[in-house]
Amino acid sequence: MDKIQIFDTTLRDGEQAPGASMTVEQKIEFALQLERLGVDVIEAGFPVSSPHQFKACKIIADNVKNSVVAGLARAVEKDIDAVYESLKGAETSRLHTFIATSPIHMKYKLKMEPETVIENAVKAVSYARNKFDQIEFSPEDGTRSELEFLYRIIEKVIDAGATVINIPDTVGYTMPDEIFDFISSIRNNVPNIDKAIISTHCHNDLGLAVANSISAIKAGARQAEVTINGIGERAGNGALEELVMALNVRKDITNIDTNIDTKQLYYTSKLLSAIIASPIPRNKPIVGANAFSHESGIHQHGMISNRETYEIMTPESVGRDSSEIILGRHSGLHGFSNRVKELGFNLTDEQIKTAFEDFLKLADRKKEVFDEDILSIAGSILGKDSCFYDLDYFHITSGNAAIPTGTVRIKYDEQQKEEAATGDGPISAIFQAIDKATNIPAKLEEFNVSAITAGKQALGEVSVIININGEHYGGNGSSTDILEASARAYVNAINRYKLTTELTGDNNES
Ligand code: KIV
Ligand code: ZN
Repeated sequence: MDKIQIFDTTLRDGEQAPGASMTVEQKIEFALQLERLGVDVIEAGFPVSSPHQFKACKIIADNVKNSVVAGLARAVEKDIDAVYESLKGAETSRLHTFIATSPIHMKYKLKMEPETVIENAVKAVSYARNKFDQIEFSPEDGTRSELEFLYRIIEKVIDAGATVINIPDTVGYTMPDEIFDFISSIRNNVPNIDKAIISTHCHNDLGLAVANSISAIKAGARQAEVTINGIGERAGNGALEELVMALNVRKDITNIDTNIDTKQLYYTSKLLSAIIASPIPRNKPIVGANAFSHESGIHQHGMISNRETYEIMTPESVGRDSSEIILGRHSGLHGFSNRVKELGFNLTDEQIKTAFEDFLKLADRKKEVFDEDILSIAGSILGKDSCFYDLDYFHITSGNAAIPTGTVRIKYDEQQKEEAATGDGPISAIFQAIDKATNIPAKLEEFNVSAITAGKQALGEVSVIININGEHYGGNGSSTDILEASARAYVNAINRYKLTTELTGDNNES
């Protein structure tokens, strides 16, 4: 059986999704989980784009030991130097450099002649040759590039030192049969292609990213670039969990294996969802709430007789064991902090103390605390260090014969501000009070409530997407009180805006 390498780009392409920016601390926590998941390569970021990106790449490179750590660079020395400086501490480092090769990108985006594009690509790879353990080259918008041109540029960058050739379907345009032929043609027409691994990187604009990745693999690609939950630019990238399980469940056809520990898939997906405040759609394959639930009587009857009547894989195989009750209000700090560690979080003593206070508050209101609750608490603690605004107090009056009014006290930089506002309902009143207290007028675009665990006392999770100056920021909050969860989610989204704009000055151009 052949093995393919899984290259995870959640922290780079994934983070380019609207509202998916992460703090440095969240990124390192997530990278360590990707390492436990068994991904072969972690693309840590685009270091030249901001000091924040640089710092995250460096910390990931210094801490991840079992996965290759990659950094993205345009085909220019300044970008390559930034990747080099940030990945110096990596056990195995990889430069991922790219330049657009499709006629439309060369003419209108790069404004470069095709020959100059080849020159720049070769110059970049030659410059990087002795600086990294591995060099990956991507002809951006590859699937809309002319094959003859690709053969030439690929041959030249391999001669210059590229060890991986990634063919991006940048705009999610290709079809499964087409990418099969495309990759086959590259294999058959680039004379030195045996000196490099071919990789596939599919976007999901037509919902074909995973199908296209599988076709590319069938044609000989031996690396697939994907993201957890399929997050990424526009409609996203191919979802790692879907690709891995498709290859796994249909080994009879694909004869392909990966190094992924599939039992870590569900947890990894939940962790990402908690970190970026983006709920997983219920019907999402592998990780959605409905993926293993059987509603109709006929299906349930079949399942009782034999699970395989309606299940092609077990929930356990992707780490979806039923939630165990693990802690209650009498659990001490020690038991709590052990469980947080077992779930994969490395919190400082100070963070554990804060998380424990949140846990006690929750345990007071809710008798049974599940792993999902702990995940939610620990996930939000990780974002707290970059907290600009803190919701200190809130109060709401509402009723069918009263004007809903919200009052909040927000702490910011050792100061605090109290504001009140009325609204159409209690949630709009509280959000408007927060707008006044922070002096940041945000427009609410999405609002979702879900129960993290079952039962009347369930911890409710609210996630919001707000629009500030045309940019989108996600936030989440959890509490047994939905109004409190809503207020926390809104403040969390505003903090994400502050983090992105004030701290980072991000400038992702890829
Ligand atoms: O989609 C794309 O083309 C990319 C490249 C930078 C590989 O993400
Ligand atoms: Zn991409």
